[in-house]
Amino acid sequence: MGQYIMKIGEELITQDAHTNTSKPNLMESSITQVAVDEHPTTAEAEAEAEEEEKHHRCIGDEIEIPVIDLEGLDGEGRAQLVKSIGEACEDWGFFQVINHGIPTSVTQSMMQVCQEFFDIPTEENVKQYPDDNLKPVRFGTSRTLSKDTLLEWRDYLRCPCRPLSDFIDLWPAKPSTFREVTMEYSKELAVLAKRLCSAISESLGVESECLHELIGKHQQIIMPTYYPPCPNPELTIGLCAHTDPGGITILLQDEVEGLEVFKKGRWIGVKPLPDVFVVNLADQIQILTNGRYKGAEHRAIVNAERARISIPTFFHPLDDAKIAPIPELLGGQLPMYRDSIFRDYLREFFTNKSTGKGTVDSLKLD
Ligand code: OGA
Ligand code: NI
Repeated sequence: MGQYIMKIGEELITQDAHTNTSKPNLMESSITQVAVDEHPTTAEAEAEAEEEEKHHRCIGDEIEIPVIDLEGLDGEGRAQLVKSIGEACEDWGFFQVINHGIPTSVTQSMMQVCQEFFDIPTEENVKQYPDDNLKPVRFGTSRTLSKDTLLEWRDYLRCPCRPLSDFIDLWPAKPSTFREVTMEYSKELAVLAKRLCSAISESLGVESECLHELIGKHQQIIMPTYYPPCPNPELTIGLCAHTDPGGITILLQDEVEGLEVFKKGRWIGVKPLPDVFVVNLADQIQILTNGRYKGAEHRAIVNAERARISIPTFFHPLDDAKIAPIPELLGGQLPMYRDSIFRDYLREFFTNKSTGKGTVDSLKLD
């Protein structure tokens, strides 16, 4: 397994950017090793070297990530917008949306309540929401890992939202507004996901409801994520390079840079813009479209001075859904991927801690 580990010393201190106070953090647990990145398993040293080079290539801003204005989506401009969305899906699997219809008050309150959640001492959150895979709502932190474990420099809270009545009572009761704000946010995101799924379906030439039925209307998981500042950001990674395993992801980020997408052999920074959502296609769309639309490879790097909060919302198929290329999209070609049950796909993805295109590639037919 090509893992790159570096020592960074014990004397490092991080500041909490929101409260300007020291927050219990990774360094206090005397962790001295951090992951630079993980790479897919390969016997070929050459392939690894290539992967490593890919990691170290710097962020460029000459290539622009598509920004799509959804203003006219429900009016006369729909056909043109659907075309642009289709192009962004085909070229990037990754784009930003503006004029998405979600009130700024909703996104600001969500960001605020997540910030307050991460301001709670980490020990308390660990105790309240243990990182137990059998628990649907859980808090994960790199801080509690043993020092030999590879680290991603982040804390996160996993909040499934559908059906709401199954999960809302498990969501954090502190901050006191968390449930109310997250509920409102999750409903708005569901509407946006449905609109995007319809437009993406139309761009493929299939029934407007197609992707909503397959991936948009089932599982919705919000995962507020906190990346502490890291004094030596070049030695670590917030979140290793990966594609998302589900259907589609809609992410809200604060004004701190960190998210990057891999495109044309290099990592491109996603510049935070006000009132924007980042949309990325995930593995199941790649399979459903027989590879025409790609799950975008992305990662998050950390920042030396400032903490960063991002709030991805993942839309997944049903656990027992059988996912295979949509027959209408084959156009006479053979399917590129074999069928898989989404539950099994996820198990494989997390067992291998698959990075990049690992799991989706394993389904490829010759
Ligand atoms: C993820 C993810 C990016 C970010 O959680 O899958 O890609 O900026 N997050 O936090
Ligand atoms: Ni992701």
